[in-house]
Amino acid sequence: MSEPGTVLITGPTRNLGRHAVPAMADRPHGQRPDLLLVGRAGRDLTAVAGEVRARGARVREIGCDLSRLADVRAAAATVRELLATGTVRPLRALVANAGAMSADTRRASPDGYEMTFAVNHLAHAQLIGDLLDSFTAPARIVLLGSNTYHANFWRKLLGVAGARWADPVELARPATGELPPGRTASAVAYSNAKLAILYYAHELQRRAGAGISVSVFEPGWMPGTALGREAPEALQAVACALGRVPGVSTPRRSGPLLAAMALDDQWAHLRDGAFVVRSQPAEVRPVAHDRDREQRLWEATAELLNRACASQ
Ligand SMILES: NC(=O)c1ccc[n+]([C@@H]2O[C@H](COP(=O)([O-])OP(=O)(O)OC[C@H]3O[C@@H](n4cnc5c(N)ncnc54)[C@H](OP(=O)(O)O)[C@@H]3O)[C@@H](O)[C@H]2O)c1
Repeated sequence: MSEPGTVLITGPTRNLGRHAVPAMADRPHGQRPDLLLVGRAGRDLTAVAGEVRARGARVREIGCDLSRLADVRAAAATVRELLATGTVRPLRALVANAGAMSADTRRASPDGYEMTFAVNHLAHAQLIGDLLDSFTAPARIVLLGSNTYHANFWRKLLGVAGARWADPVELARPATGELPPGRTASAVAYSNAKLAILYYAHELQRRAGAGISVSVFEPGWMPGTALGREAPEALQAVACALGRVPGVSTPRRSGPLLAAMALDDQWAHLRDGAFVVRSQPAEVRPVAHDRDREQRLWEATAELLNRACASQ
């Protein structure tokens, strides 16, 4: 990218985001973007900001708990203010990297929505919607997908459930009563949220200005990241061991690939929610293209975000 402007990234404090941020900051002078780091305020956010500042990047920390939509709206307002006052350069990319996988689908966000859906999808839809008029073309929005949206042989073997789509208002509703044994409900909620991100990406491209391109990045399976932090300890230990198997994706390897999605000329042509697995463009399954579901998700998302805003 010749004029990199400003890149906003969510979830910069750990793993994939933690490795993508230095990869952006290490661009040669003249290609190095200003960085807006959106994450939970605290030591981790300050540490990553300090590290990339020491490498010469201009960086701002924006404290935000993405499970709390009021926080997300406040973060977007801060970004608009920084742009309007020229404190940072024009907004050229937004990387919606933060993700979560709640172990208990009965758990509600402060706005009353199921946690996994709230953090992965609703928070980013709020942030992007609030900033859509603030980009300077050519600009990129990179969303984080996951191949878990569909089950295959290996995922079935590992007990990783694929998506089971329902109306988005249902997906946003915390579960009630007894959950089925094991981690199926949590895995299905995660896969649903990641399928929602694909649908949202397709609809977003239809609604965003011509100068904004939308793509979806899949970093490869990175076992042992904090995404599984609520899983039983034994499972986390197995995941950590798998993360050391040669050839398995790691945040250290995939972080720079995510940075490239936001910055490199190689990916300037991507649009329409193009799906990239590590560094290979890939076709998504037919289930991930559905105009009716995409439109309904857009409308339901607006309804859910408005409801949360009105109740404050
Ligand atoms: N790991 C994989 O195998 C894999 C595969 C495909 C796609 N992905 C996707 O890649 C992205 C990064 O995954 P990862 O493995 O690096 O996950 P991770 O280690 O769990 O890191 C997630 C990041 O999101 C942030 N985050 C979570 N909940 C938040 C909240 N309520 N408010 C603010 N920030 C919040 C975390 O911040 P804190 O430090 O404050 O917790 C952290 O910086 C996710 O979107 C994930 O779904 C991962």
